[in-house]
Amino acid sequence: MINLWDLYSFTYDSLAILPSYKNMINNIIKALEITEKEKYLDLGCGTGNLALEIVKRYNTLEISIYGLDFSNTSLLIANKKIKNLSTKSKPHFFLYDVRKGLPFPSSYFDGVSLVQLINYFPKVSDVIKLMGEVNRVTKKNGKIVIVSVARPHKFIKGSLDFRKALQCYPLKTIKNVPFFIANAFFNLPMKLGKNIKLYDEKCLEKIGEILKWKKEYSQSVYYNDINILVKFKK
Ligand SMILES: C[S@@+](CC[C@H](N)C(=O)[O-])C[C@H]1O[C@@H](n2cnc3c(N)ncnc32)[C@H](O)[C@@H]1O
Repeated sequence: MINLWDLYSFTYDSLAILPSYKNMINNIIKALEITEKEKYLDLGCGTGNLALEIVKRYNTLEISIYGLDFSNTSLLIANKKIKNLSTKSKPHFFLYDVRKGLPFPSSYFDGVSLVQLINYFPKVSDVIKLMGEVNRVTKKNGKIVIVSVARPHKFIKGSLDFRKALQCYPLKTIKNVPFFIANAFFNLPMKLGKNIKLYDEKCLEKIGEILKWKKEYSQSVYYNDINILVKFKK
């Protein structure tokens, strides 16, 4: 069966120039409190934007970052981006369906991020299973950052954001207009709400409570605040 994310990956990075996407990445990096010699895991890493921004921003630090995703083409794009990096550390990307459990030892990571991932799991039981695995592979006091679509996505709101992007980055964005259209097309099944599951702040807090994680804070992010970022400590 065709993986929709394989199709979407070809246009996904047209989003990466949007101010709201950049802000979201900034907020995740802040929440992760990156420190040298630490190990990080980005689940559903897509085209690698978060891991890439981390190694670029902390380019003199030795950091281990692993990204897992089950979309082959997303990882091809991610791996292409790291080819000519001159940073001290490079991310490691692996093709993997994270619903199968996480292929790492217990208490291995200092920080784990899940950015717009659980929203696309068809079964809630897989979300619960994955969160148990995140708990297992995270060290005590480790950081867990979840970004989830919390409210219905109205396409018109997304369009307003594109307009903002056009003002900020006229040339780059105009070049990307066909991509935005393609994005809207490929993303439609999800936008129509058939496949997407909303996990709001309360849902995420409940998951954290069950796993005895300490919630540090939450904030609205990305696309006119339809996403919520929650930071926990194990
Ligand atoms: C909305 S994208 C987010 C990508 C990235 N986290 C970002 O913020 O740019 C969702 C990603 O989750 C991945 N994904 C969805 N279900 C997955 C699964 N079961 N295992 C691994 N990756 C998955 C998709 O392939 C896609 O790259």
